[in-house]
Amino acid sequence: MFSHCDRPIGVFDSGVGGISVLAELLRVLPRERYIYFADTANAPYGSKDAAEVQALAMQAADYLLDHGVKCLVVACNTATSAAVAKMRDTLDVPIIGMEPAVKPAVEMHRPGVVLVMATPLTLKEEKFRTLASRFSESAEIVSVPCPGLVELIESGYIEGDEILSYLRDRLGPLLKKPVAAVVLGCTHYVFIRREVSHLIGDDVPVVDGNAGTARQVKAVLQREGLLRSGDLMPFDNPTELQNRVTIFASANADKTIPLCKQYLARELGLGA
Ligand code: DGL
Repeated sequence: MFSHCDRPIGVFDSGVGGISVLAELLRVLPRERYIYFADTANAPYGSKDAAEVQALAMQAADYLLDHGVKCLVVACNTATSAAVAKMRDTLDVPIIGMEPAVKPAVEMHRPGVVLVMATPLTLKEEKFRTLASRFSESAEIVSVPCPGLVELIESGYIEGDEILSYLRDRLGPLLKKPVAAVVLGCTHYVFIRREVSHLIGDDVPVVDGNAGTARQVKAVLQREGLLRSGDLMPFDNPTELQNRVTIFASANADKTIPLCKQYLARELGLGA
């Protein structure tokens, strides 16, 4: 019999960024099915205002709920800051959001500044300001808004000269002081982790919130009795992965969906 637990998990982002979260979800919850929605018609979210992103996130949530998902993962720091409270107030499924991984970065207790790379909107919102002020006594936290970086990653640039030159311009002037850690506060940036390390130095930790979010999704599903207990085998190849994950995009589906699949296989080390 088909039970609530057999329904898929809904995951969304403005574009391909949330695929980095989906990769972590597949590691932590390999027996679940997933529906991923990339809102490419409206990307990037990070340069819009909060009210607009809130409306777009509600629309994305409705799209996934129409596909029968059992919970929603807001795989986007920007949409979480602007919309998660409203979503929790109005929608009747568990909702798991994200926040820049400032806590783990500060708790490494390394000397130097903590650089938080994120979209302009995430860094402007109350949610981030409250988070940063919680840790401001323990570390110097420096906001690094990165307008235009999401667009590069959406265009398929995740390594090479374009990304390195962007990062050099953006981070170069901040490297005069020692860096304790870099926080990737946007799910898109996880794909360029290696390039960030290349520039900052391999000894500086580069942290993101994906593993914490995936653990949180598992805990919430467990608590709500919604974990899938079926007989799906953990995937170990790209074909099985395709049976497990369905991807939709609100624009440019012919380019976005293959790019999502390519980034997902890369993150999972499956080759593309
Ligand atoms: N991936 C998103 C995040 O985590 C936002 C990207 C955008 O600006 O659309 O913030």
